[in-house]
Amino acid sequence: MNSAKLIQRFMTCYSRRRCLSYSMLHQKKQFCTKPDNKLMTQLQSKINFSGPITVAEYMKEALTHATEGYYIHSDVFGVAGDFITSPEISQMFGELIAIWFVNEWMMIGAPENVQLVEMGPGRGTMADDMLRAFSKFPELSKALSVHLVEVSVTLSRLQEEKLSATPDQPAPSSKEGELHYKSCLSKYGPCVYWYRDIKDVPAGCNMFVAHEFFDALPIHKFQKTEHGWREVLVDIDPETENKLRFVLARGDTPASKLALKLCDGDDREHVEVCPQAALVMNYLASCIQEHGGCALIADYGHHGDKQDTFRGFKDHALHEVLENPGCADLTSDVDFSYLKQHTDGKVKAYGPVTQSLFLQNLGIAYRLKILYDKADESGKADLLSAFKLLTYPEEMGERFKFLALLNNACQHNPVGFEPLPEDQPAQPTSEPT
Ligand SMILES: C[S@@+](CC[C@H](N)C(=O)[O-])C[C@H]1O[C@@H](n2cnc3c(N)ncnc32)[C@H](O)[C@@H]1O
Repeated sequence: MNSAKLIQRFMTCYSRRRCLSYSMLHQKKQFCTKPDNKLMTQLQSKINFSGPITVAEYMKEALTHATEGYYIHSDVFGVAGDFITSPEISQMFGELIAIWFVNEWMMIGAPENVQLVEMGPGRGTMADDMLRAFSKFPELSKALSVHLVEVSVTLSRLQEEKLSATPDQPAPSSKEGELHYKSCLSKYGPCVYWYRDIKDVPAGCNMFVAHEFFDALPIHKFQKTEHGWREVLVDIDPETENKLRFVLARGDTPASKLALKLCDGDDREHVEVCPQAALVMNYLASCIQEHGGCALIADYGHHGDKQDTFRGFKDHALHEVLENPGCADLTSDVDFSYLKQHTDGKVKAYGPVTQSLFLQNLGIAYRLKILYDKADESGKADLLSAFKLLTYPEEMGERFKFLALLNNACQHNPVGFEPLPEDQPAQPTSEPT
């Protein structure tokens, strides 16, 4: 079956509705400042003892510290949280990503064992939408196991609640020496396993997916000065109590020595480098080279031309990054050229293309119409606003991008990455036709 037919077959399945209107997105919740920020105290002690820390260390602690990290202690997503992501906006998003993987699985000969590996699954919403879509393809569902790479036990509980058929009942272990920290049988059939690190996922034919994962990985920041590139560090502000500030390293740091090669000849005044992203990309590329499979990476990002993108979010608004560590989301735009560079030619890379192009190529307008025709009045309005949020350039359509990796032996191009046909309108009218 070709991908157009495949998409069509799936699109006609009716599913439940989940999307949000613009007004819901902009509702605010009460700001909750911790009176005594334990992480701030720990970071200050560390800086007092051994000097300023790197931005990467600060970001890592603020997001994933074992007890005080932002992702570790709370559910941070959705209208009531601090930000909203595409899978949380509409079921259409995860479903279309699922279709991309169904097509890839078929193009590589429908292997009998395949692992869906999601990095940073958040609330598990995208995995849920994907598995529901996969369940329409029984042969794939039979071949599939699901492997979630999640550092936050709190979020892993939400993921389990969403995906599990019978909570607290582990899935049978399939391989010797598995390194998962928990497992369950999903309500769609395939077993689900959780890991802290991508390298703990068993080797095999993997379909990797990462949505808004790379932007959460710690970055180093470098500033061009008259003495050459200097690393930006985080220090205690001597002027104000309980406050941190950015300073420049006086000389080379371990990271600046490594990054110098990268920054040499760069026109920018400021550069952000994410070594962990390089390691993950190299690992994905090696796995795909060795065992087959593919990867789809979606995030907001650029082509190596942006400068200072490090920022914080709290209550759907920008937040000062050095304030109240552990209480706000910290993120930076993903440098897609850097990601591609670190695949080292081990795989074929496609994109990045914009989210708008990718979703339209996958048939979002068609899926919208199916859901729209079956929805009530408020459902119709929600669906249209979700469509706009996901695809309009001024919303998430341009800023978010998709990158795909395929095995070098693949003879086909992945769907979603080709230019739109000229007769296809870039945006639908107010009513899908
Ligand atoms: C911005 S959220 C995105 C969630 C989800 N993909 C979505 O789009 O709704 C980042 C996710 O990555 C996880 N995460 C962050 N750093 C991680 C790391 N170093 N290893 C594994 N997971 C990580 C977080 O706990 C969270 O689930």
